[in-house]
Amino acid sequence: MSKDIKHFLDLDQLTLTTLRSILACATSVKKNGVGTPLPLIGKTLAMLFEKPSTRTRVSFQVGMQQLGGSVVTLSPQDTQIGRGESIADTARALSRYVDAIMIRTSSPEKLRDLVQFATVPVINGLTDESHPCQIMADIMTFEECKGPIEGSIIAWSGDGNNVATSWVHAAAHFGFELRIACPKNLQPRANIIAWARSKGAKISIGIDPHAAVKDADCIVTDTWVSMGDEAADKHKELAPYQVNEALMVEAKSDAIFMHCLPAHRGEEVTEAVIDGPRSVVWNEAENRLHVQKGVLLWCLE
Ligand code: CP
Ligand code: NVA
Repeated sequence: MSKDIKHFLDLDQLTLTTLRSILACATSVKKNGVGTPLPLIGKTLAMLFEKPSTRTRVSFQVGMQQLGGSVVTLSPQDTQIGRGESIADTARALSRYVDAIMIRTSSPEKLRDLVQFATVPVINGLTDESHPCQIMADIMTFEECKGPIEGSIIAWSGDGNNVATSWVHAAAHFGFELRIACPKNLQPRANIIAWARSKGAKISIGIDPHAAVKDADCIVTDTWVSMGDEAADKHKELAPYQVNEALMVEAKSDAIFMHCLPAHRGEEVTEAVIDGPRSVVWNEAENRLHVQKGVLLWCLE
């Protein structure tokens, strides 16, 4: 893997300066547009989806188009990957055609293989372990609504999944307090929490959602059943972690609600909360578009 290639893989592997510069770029393109001449004319992004996606797919495609570039969307069944061609060989071939590769895959190992063998930037569009682009959009959304995230309290109530893990990575950089409430067996991995704490992150982890949300500026949750998790029946143990109006009133009176989507009303969040006045989920979804542009420009310019 060349050190000169700017991969966007996980928030723990990037510096705060880089992450802040991507967010500043996202904010600028949201406010002022992308400028002329379009910055990515002639550039192509390959998007490899081994799992479904609405927001990530459309925001990368539209973002790339608005920057002047184009995309090629691939899935295992319509490429030779479906017939057993390795990610390594796919990476080597794709690198001869395109300028960057975005991948959504179950397997962090496949992401690592792609990075090892690609000679163009690779962007992590979600694995079973993390979802960094999402948390960049979430931080942008938080700061638009509430000002600097540094010193704020973010409470996570629900499954300690890939999205929660990227929040842990972010806590090591952005100076907010992260309080995670989830059942013991569904917590983010201990080594990730330990890494974040070693970098100065203020993280508490426990099983009580009420303790986590007390005085929080933002409550975040995500689906109880992630893609690839379909066989798991976690509903019963996650039921106490539902974000409902009773839980929201235990946070600060002006606390916001965030969810990466897709949501399951009546499970991890009630309709009254996600469709209520404190929910900023559509701003989050929109900011995926602006953040993708920030990521693409950082990788490709
Ligand atoms: N939040 C998110 O990544 O949505 P999609 O699965 O629709 O891409
Ligand atoms: N945790 C969810 C996020 C979807 C964007 C999943 O992996 O399915």
